[in-house]
Amino acid sequence: MTDTVPMIDSELSEQERLEYWAGEATRVTWNAPFTEVLDWSDAPFAKWFVGGRLNAGYNCVDRHVEAGHGDRVAFHFVGEPGDTRSISYRELQQEVGRAANALTTLGVVAGDRIAIYLPMIPEAVVAMLACARIGAPHTVVFGGFSADALAARIADRDAKVVVTADGGFRRGRPSALKPAVDDAADRCPGVEHVLVVRRTGEPIEWHEGRDLWWHDVVGTASPVHAPEAFDSEHPLFIMYTSGTTGAPKGILHTTGGYLVQVASSFETVFDHRPGDVYWCTADVGWITGHSYIVYGPLAAGATQVLYEGTPDAPHRGRWWEIIAQYGVTQFYTAPTAIRTTMKWGDDIPAAYDLTSIRVLGSVGEPINPEAHRWYRDTIGGGTAPIVDTWWQTETGAQMIAPLPGMVDAKPGAATAALPGIAIDVVDDSGASVPNGHDGYLVVREPWPAMLRTIWGDDARYVETYWSRWPGVYFAGDGARRDEDGHIWLLGRVDDVMNVSGHRLSTAEVESALVSHAAVAEAAVVAASDPTSGQAIVAFVILREDADAANPGIVAELRAHVGREIGAIAKPREVFVVPELPKTRSGKIMRRLLRDLAEQRETGDATTLADTAVMAVITAAVAGAPDAKEA
Ligand code: WTA
Repeated sequence: MTDTVPMIDSELSEQERLEYWAGEATRVTWNAPFTEVLDWSDAPFAKWFVGGRLNAGYNCVDRHVEAGHGDRVAFHFVGEPGDTRSISYRELQQEVGRAANALTTLGVVAGDRIAIYLPMIPEAVVAMLACARIGAPHTVVFGGFSADALAARIADRDAKVVVTADGGFRRGRPSALKPAVDDAADRCPGVEHVLVVRRTGEPIEWHEGRDLWWHDVVGTASPVHAPEAFDSEHPLFIMYTSGTTGAPKGILHTTGGYLVQVASSFETVFDHRPGDVYWCTADVGWITGHSYIVYGPLAAGATQVLYEGTPDAPHRGRWWEIIAQYGVTQFYTAPTAIRTTMKWGDDIPAAYDLTSIRVLGSVGEPINPEAHRWYRDTIGGGTAPIVDTWWQTETGAQMIAPLPGMVDAKPGAATAALPGIAIDVVDDSGASVPNGHDGYLVVREPWPAMLRTIWGDDARYVETYWSRWPGVYFAGDGARRDEDGHIWLLGRVDDVMNVSGHRLSTAEVESALVSHAAVAEAAVVAASDPTSGQAIVAFVILREDADAANPGIVAELRAHVGREIGAIAKPREVFVVPELPKTRSGKIMRRLLRDLAEQRETGDATTLADTAVMAVITAAVAGAPDAKEA
């Protein structure tokens, strides 16, 4: 069957591709029809569904109610402490209407920016949809990010309102969010209001005049709100992600093209049918939560599980218990989570009835064959197809995936471009590689959910994505095209790391390290890790005046990175070294550091300015006390 599926659809003519997307656009309700599918005259700045007008919030909620599905459950919310709440599409419509009215009362108008910093609770989805409804693009910041990271994002966007909560529940304990917002808002004078959802009930500081309780403002607002239609290219949201420099990039997504492609891919890739119960374990703070919890599934009118906590709270069977309880049919998670639950043992999922599962999804990093087989056999009863979906914050929607039932999934291969997507694997010169060869993954033609630019920096957008081979989008990933023409993802070829499916750049962590008073220089590499995929390993040179004998320095540096970026960025190991391996031109040879981090013999070091330096570094690393435990 596999050879009947086009592996690279670049054989589709331009006209066929545009016709395909025009057809997919009928999944969305337009207030005014588009007059042109794609305007690429100002490439690489795309306009999709030109002239069309729509409201993303209306498409995700109201139209399902109008179609008679008001009683259908939109979300089965499961809180970590065990509280549950099922929210119908009608209730969702009312909640979103109230939130939209409340934001309007606070003076928010179309084009204003809103930051959202919430746990995985229904209010996160409601806040996003309310923003979409009034045309105020949102930036959701993952709750694990620090006050500094939050402040940087609020400031870059000049956000007027921040929506947050007192905290959320994490591994059986309340975990505060509000202090980080207080700290960030103090530094961002543009923030006029902080809307606070009461989730944990823990005491919080209150800033009179700036802080407002969600239940006071949203809870008392009218549930009736008339959505306004916006241009297809109206900004929907900005999602920050790590690039190869220290400063995260604000990836801009707009309305029409994004909504069409997330709705289309959600329905086809997950083989979504009426009556299904879909569950994606991502956090709404990441692109996966935006596209495959909020906009894709809701545009399709799906019923979902929304879970606040971790897979091991209060016990290691929690995920499987939820699947059994709600009869989940599609389950979408990340390889790192699969490997973690796999490590806990087969007897844990075996205690639950998982026979409702029909399709399993994977995203975020390459899935290793062992985890793939375990996922299919233990969670999917040996029969559920695994859709290994490759995509990025920048692509907005899934780009490569085996369609269930169409392609015999090979463990570890994301397989083939989705219809209407022109994926290719090219060599250094930009020429397609033949089957059986490795190269760089590129997208040859624009696609509807593509990023439109980097917020405030068009030049960086062109330079980062479209300059390596003119006219071609370069994704930053290496790939192999196997003998059958199937695509295998080989990981990033730039300095972007992938830790538990979270993107971080080496430069970002390095700049956090050197911002510590004791650090003179830092080099960060990603070492392969059996659970998290990659782990951060840092090599630092201390300042001469720093107390090198301070036994707590490693712990202090890890904590410092946690404060600067967030706990996810804390290096697994920090080695204090006297030198870093550099070429004659001063470039750090990370390859050699990676060898050290992965405890291999170091490779060819002949291009180093000082070839003796590796021996000195190796000795320092070997002598490092308990770096891992620190
Ligand atoms: C990696 C997440 C292999 C890849 C949606 C990409 C994958 C980066 C896969 C984007 C996959 C994502 N197989 N690698 N199925 N999915 N990646 O922006 O390196 O957080 O460039 O988007 O994750 O990460 P991002």
